[in-house]
Order: sequence, then C-alpha cells, then structure tokens
Amino acid sequence: MSFREKYGPWAVVSGASAGLGACFARDLAARGLNLVLVARRADRLEELGRELEAGFGVETLAVPLDLCQDGFAGRLVEAVGGREVGLLINNAGFGATGGFLEADPAWNARMVRLNCEATVLLAHAFLPAMVDRGRGGMVMVGSTASFQPCPWMAVYGATKAFDLMLGEALDEELRGQGVDVLSLCPGHTDTEFHQVAGVKGPVAGGSADPAVVVKGALDRLGRKQHWVPGLLNKLMSLGARFGTRRMGASLTGKMLKSRMVG
Ligand SMILES: NC(=O)c1ccc[n+]([C@@H]2O[C@H](COP(=O)([O-])OP(=O)(O)OC[C@H]3O[C@@H](n4cnc5c(N)ncnc54)[C@H](OP(=O)(O)O)[C@@H]3O)[C@@H](O)[C@H]2O)c1
Repeated sequence: MSFREKYGPWAVVSGASAGLGACFARDLAARGLNLVLVARRADRLEELGRELEAGFGVETLAVPLDLCQDGFAGRLVEAVGGREVGLLINNAGFGATGGFLEADPAWNARMVRLNCEATVLLAHAFLPAMVDRGRGGMVMVGSTASFQPCPWMAVYGATKAFDLMLGEALDEELRGQGVDVLSLCPGHTDTEFHQVAGVKGPVAGGSADPAVVVKGALDRLGRKQHWVPGLLNKLMSLGARFGTRRMGASLTGKMLKSRMVG
C-alpha cells in the first residue's frame, strides 16, 4: 500500500502556519495528500495552501482556529465535513522558559491546554473514523524535553512528557486496528519556537533542519513508536532513561538555565 493509500486522501496538520507544521504540510503534499491546515494565522495558512495547490496539484482547506478555545474540535470537524482524514499531525504547541513561580499562571494553563488538552481532543475527533476504516495514522509531536523533568521549562517539559506517553499508549491500543501512531521527539530545531519560548540559541550540536526532521518522522510512521532525530539528542534521551530522574533534572536544569533570555 502506498503512503497515500495508507494515510490519505486528507491529512489534518495542527500548527501548519509555521515551523514543523508547515514542513509537514509540504512533505505530505509532495506525497500526494490533500491538506487541512489549522492554526490561528489565517493569512499564512491561505498562502501555504496556494503554494501546495500550485506546486503539487493537491487540494487544501485552511481552517483558522485557536486550539485553546472551547468548542474548537466541533468547529474543525464541521469545517472538514465529509473529507476522509487518514492522518492527523498533532503538532501545534508552544513553550516558555523561566522560573515556575515567576510565570503567569494563566499562560502556563494555556500551554497545558494547547500542548495536552487540544492534542487529546484532536485525537478523539479523527482517530475513530480511521479505526472504522482499518487504516490511518497520527504523529504526536513530543520533544527531547519529554524524557526528563525540565527545570526552568517545567510546565513545557511536563506537557511534552504527556504527549509522548499519550502517543505511545495509543500506538499500543490501536495496533492491530490498522492505525499507526508515531511520537516525534525533536531536539533544537530551526523554527519560531525559540523566539516564542524565549530560549537563546543556537545550542551545542546545532539546530536541526525542520524539513529533515519531518521527512524522517513520516518515513518512520508505522515502523517505530517514537523517534528522536539526531545522534546527540538520541544519546541524551537514552541517558535520561538509564540514569536517575533526579540526575536528569539536575543536568537539564543547568543547561536550560544557561539558555534563558534575560
Ligand atoms: N523547534 C524546536 O526546537 C522543537 C523541539 C521539540 C519539540 N518541538 C515541538 O514542535 C511543535 C511545533 O513547534 P515549532 O517548533 O514548529 O514552533 P513554531 O514555529 O512556533 O510553530 C508553532 C505552531 O503552533 C501554532 N499555534 C500556536 N498556538 C496555537 C493556538 N493557540 N492554536 C492553534 N495553533 C497554535 C502556531 O500557529 P499560529 O501562531 O498561527 O496559531 C504555529 O503554526 C510544538 O509542539 C513544539 O513543542 C519543537
């Protein structure tokens, strides 16, 4: 079965207006999938849609939505209508650096809402029809932050641990029903994320090309349960699993504190 037969004809990409999400949309269009593009910035989604339609001859639907708003999932399902969605890229997310006690509680709650609650609601919205058809897939975007506590990015790290655990659990639950789930756990990648999160860059080991990260993830969908791009990131994620969690928290805290802006 080709990629399009297994995961098409439509894919929903959350956070498609920038960074990894826009790269997912481009790569999937090159694989022949039609795209539902979701994020808040309508102008960017529409521009990307035009680029993909002209470049790859696919259909696109731009759905400008704030995934932190009540009722977003119902509005998205309504906009998607009868289109057959075979792939969900659960990607929209943001981070923030700084001490937990100095952070705005409402901002942290919003991060949990987008990075955790919205991913759950998106999965509920699109996975059941895939299971009924006996084919489909989901990519959950976690992070290297998923593997250990992240002092100075405490809430972000916790949300990404949630995403990894959710993705891996769903892959296990849906195995045998034709639906594949891959959790992608990138390290520092060249997107708008760091500007939004207030992280200094670049880091030792450099910043990954988002197009390379995305291609690697899509090539591994159905073959792996999670994927950490880059040797250094892989070693760090293994270190976090084989050392004590306290050791991981201490090392990660030192590294993240040195990278806070201001
Ligand atoms: N870049 C990295 O180094 C890195 C590393 C590990 C994991 N990640 C993960 O990768 C994912 C994508 O991030 P990125 O690096 O591509 O960052 P990015 O360039 O900042 O893109 C984030 C995307 O999320 C969307 N978004 C943010 N808030 C939203 C909301 N309330 N409703 C709907 N969409 C929203 C943004 O669109 P609008 O602003 O238009 O809404 C944008 O399209 C995130 O889950 C992040 O945690 C990134």
